[in-house]
Amino acid sequence: MRRKIGKSDLEVFPIGLGAMGMSEFYGKADEKESIHTLHSALELGVNFIDTADIYGIGDNEELLQKAFHDRWDKLVLATKFGIVRDKQNPTARSISGKPGYVKQACEASLKRLGRETIDLYYLHRVDQSTPIEETVGAMAELVAEGKVQYIGLSEVSGETLRRANAVHPITAVQSEYSLWSQDVEETTLPTIRELGISLVAYSPLGRGFLTGRFQRFEDFAEDDYRRFSPRFQGENFNKNLELLRLVEDIAKDKGCKPSQLALAWLLSQGEDIIPIPGTTKVTNLMENIEAVNISLTSIEVCQIGALMRNIHGDRYDQSGMTFINK
Ligand code: ATR
Repeated sequence: MRRKIGKSDLEVFPIGLGAMGMSEFYGKADEKESIHTLHSALELGVNFIDTADIYGIGDNEELLQKAFHDRWDKLVLATKFGIVRDKQNPTARSISGKPGYVKQACEASLKRLGRETIDLYYLHRVDQSTPIEETVGAMAELVAEGKVQYIGLSEVSGETLRRANAVHPITAVQSEYSLWSQDVEETTLPTIRELGISLVAYSPLGRGFLTGRFQRFEDFAEDDYRRFSPRFQGENFNKNLELLRLVEDIAKDKGCKPSQLALAWLLSQGEDIIPIPGTTKVTNLMENIEAVNISLTSIEVCQIGALMRNIHGDRYDQSGMTFINK
C-alpha cells in the first residue's frame, strides 16, 4: 500500500506525518513524546515526513536530525524554504525566492538536518518580486549538484505551476486541502493532474478542527497560532462547528472518528493525493493511519464534501492570505 509522488521514484505510505506542531504554532509540545512519535511513525510504515526551515525557526529540522540521524535511509524527507524569519523578531515574515537565497537556505537546511541531500525540496511561498523561472532555475541547480533530489512548490497557482514545470519537472505541490479547505480542487488541482504531479495535502484535519477536539476559542493556548485564524474566531467558529456536527453524524454511522473520515475523504480523491496530518502523539498518529482502511463510495465522497464546502472565514489572517499565489 504505497503512493508514488508525482513521476519520481519516491514511494510512500498514503498518509505522511507533518512535524510542524512539534516545534511551534500549536502550543507547547514535549520533545521526548515528539521523538517517540517520529520513531513510531517509521515503525508503523509512515515514511513521508514533512518539515520546513521556518518551523521553530530551524528547531524542527534539528529535531528531525536528532530523531532520524541513524535512519534517514528509511524515509522520504521533505523540507521547504522561502518564508524568511529570524529569532530576533519571530513574528515578522517576508518571502524570498531569489537565486542566492535559494542556495543559502538549502545549505542551512542541509546543515541542520545533518544530511548531504534533501529528498523533496519545496518553495514554501511564491516570491511575487522574483520570476518563478529564476527561483526554480536555482532549485534545478541544487538538483544538478545532488543537494536536492526532487522539487516541489507550495500554495501555487496553476499558471505559476505551469511556468515552473517548464524550467524543471515539479514532483509535488503542497497545498492546504481538507473538508474545510476545498478551494484547490477548482484552482490548482486540474493543472497538477494534467502535469502528473502529486498533491500533498497539508492541514488535512483543518488544523485539528475536524477532529472535533476544539470547541471554543479558549481551547487554544494563548500562544496558539489558531487564535489568529479567522475560522476559529467568533461566529465563524460556531457556524463551522454546526457544519462539523453533520460530518460527525456520518462518522458515527460509519463507526469511525470524524478525523478518520476527513482523511479517508482525501484519500478517496485519487492516488495522487497524499495527506500529511500533523501530530505530536503516537495515539493520534495510530488513529490517523487507520483511515487507510475506510472505504467510501463516490456518492459518499460527494455528499461528505458538500457538507463543508461553504465554510466561514478565511484560511489565514489578512497578511497570511497575501502570501497565497492566486
Ligand atoms: P497541520 O497540517 O497544520 O499540522 P492538521 O494536520 O490539520 O494540521 O491538524 C493538526 C492538529 O490536529 C494538531 O493540533 C494535532 O494535535 P496533537 O499534536 O495533539 O495530535 C491534532 N491532531 C492530529 N491528529 C489527531 C487525532 N487523531 N485526534 C485529535 N487531534 C489530532
